[in-house]
Amino acid sequence: MLELSNINAGYGNVQVLRGLSLTAGPGQVTCVMGRNGAGKTTMLRAIMGQISTTAGSITLSGTPLQTLPAHEVPRAGIGYVPQGRRLFGELTVAQNIEIGLMTRGKGRATRDYVLSLFPRLRERLSQRSSTLSGGEQQMLAIARALCLEPSVLLLDEPTEGLQPSMITLIRDTLLTLKSTGVAIVLVEQRVDAVLAMADHIAFVTAGSVAETVPNTGLSTDSAQFKTYVGV
Ligand SMILES: Nc1ncnc2c1ncn2[C@@H]1O[C@H](COP(=O)(O)OP(=O)(O)OP(=O)(O)O)[C@@H](O)[C@H]1O
Ligand SMILES: [Mg+2]
Repeated sequence: MLELSNINAGYGNVQVLRGLSLTAGPGQVTCVMGRNGAGKTTMLRAIMGQISTTAGSITLSGTPLQTLPAHEVPRAGIGYVPQGRRLFGELTVAQNIEIGLMTRGKGRATRDYVLSLFPRLRERLSQRSSTLSGGEQQMLAIARALCLEPSVLLLDEPTEGLQPSMITLIRDTLLTLKSTGVAIVLVEQRVDAVLAMADHIAFVTAGSVAETVPNTGLSTDSAQFKTYVGV
């Protein structure tokens, strides 16, 4: 269980997160929605230790994460697929995967499992990752995060700009991971995707979670989408 409790964080003296709380449980998809600039990416960066918090706590199964340096957070079992996918573009697919495996000392079995989720990557192991299609790059970004065998997977708008077949593939993969007990935190702007995937939806506005609702009885015209997302 990943738990954020009343965290404050920002950039320099600009505060972005204000008393933000969020819980993500194993085998659950927690979708995070909110307008541009609401603080969704900042929240994920705070979890990853890329920016420091000035108040509140972040724990994974009760263990505090904030005291860890940023490079230790993935080793604690938190996979991160950043917005706009950050790959090592000069490196091949195989090398990007190797870096993911090395982070937590995982080996052959993990590599085989990850490549079984994304057979297209297996066909392109020696290709330089900057030459992959957008969808393939996103698969590789997810694959690299999965090489940690994470207990928590954070994804920041992973289907942004992708064609429908690729979106379906990524969603199916996330549902497979959910069934294996991974806690998934999915920042997603599309209401249809959220309704199809989420167990819970956290609505972020002005740097805090205004409301968390279970995905039951929500529909495309529920008030929350209008209020917090503007659709
Ligand atoms: N490196 C930075 N330095 C200063 N301010 C930043 C930095 N990164 C983000 N911000 C500011 O923090 C606020 C929240 O940004 P954030 O990227 O978390 O929003 P978001 O909810 O992810 O938005 P989007 O839906 O557009 O991705 C914005 O006002 C943004 O300008
Ligand atoms: Mg963002």
